[in-house]
Amino acid sequence: MARKFFVGGNFKMNPATREQKRALVKILNDANLDPNVEVVVAPPSLYLISILEILRKDVQVSAQNCHAKASGAYTGEISPQQLVDAGVPYVILGHSERRSLFHETSEEVAAKTRAAIDAGLKVILCVGETLEEREAGKTQAVVQAQLAVVVAALEPAQWENVVIAYEPVWAIGTGKVATCEQAQEVHAATRAYISSAISPAIADAVRIIYGGSVNAKNCKETGNQPDVDGFLVGGASLKPEFVDIVNTKR
Ligand code: G3H
Repeated sequence: MARKFFVGGNFKMNPATREQKRALVKILNDANLDPNVEVVVAPPSLYLISILEILRKDVQVSAQNCHAKASGAYTGEISPQQLVDAGVPYVILGHSERRSLFHETSEEVAAKTRAAIDAGLKVILCVGETLEEREAGKTQAVVQAQLAVVVAALEPAQWENVVIAYEPVWAIGTGKVATCEQAQEVHAATRAYISSAISPAIADAVRIIYGGSVNAKNCKETGNQPDVDGFLVGGASLKPEFVDIVNTKR
């Protein structure tokens, strides 16, 4: 089964104003987007509902995080059930900025992933190694350890609601994009891991996307690797070139 190319735009804590938010939506609404690509944008939670109301319907929205609990005394948090109720289909979980700056453990990421899928969300699950870990030859061990906790937390059938985002921490926001060979190597090894840890059928179906300094210039070579099924884009998702990244395969 061919895997549908997936391009996500993670706006992080941007844009700074509602006017800029409307301008970003206008770029997407006016664009000629490849209909064979699943496109998802992840604005700050404050803008989720207003963007849902004005964004073209063939582009989906994602939250950037959620809590594992359905409701309760968790100041500042948003539950998976609230996202589903608001009409938000996706959530990004395990982003390296959540793991490093907000000290989220792989166990918390796995619990959130299970709770999100149980509530009816689809999950963009981020994994990736630091520069120190890569230089120590631990890339695949780190990625697999991050995934293993999620493998243990999910029923096999729930993986149809997961997109794995391989995001080497050293490539995020640094301008140092992984080479297409580096990305392909990790993606292929990750697919092999999913095959042995869950099943060959799930490994064949699951999309593994790359994130880390993707732009309109470097997307084609990486996007044409056999195990690269799309991108999770940060900085460039705030610019008109995001449209060119969506149209990588054209
Ligand atoms: O979620 C997106 C990644 O953190 C990549 O960010 O494209 O700005 O390097 P970047």
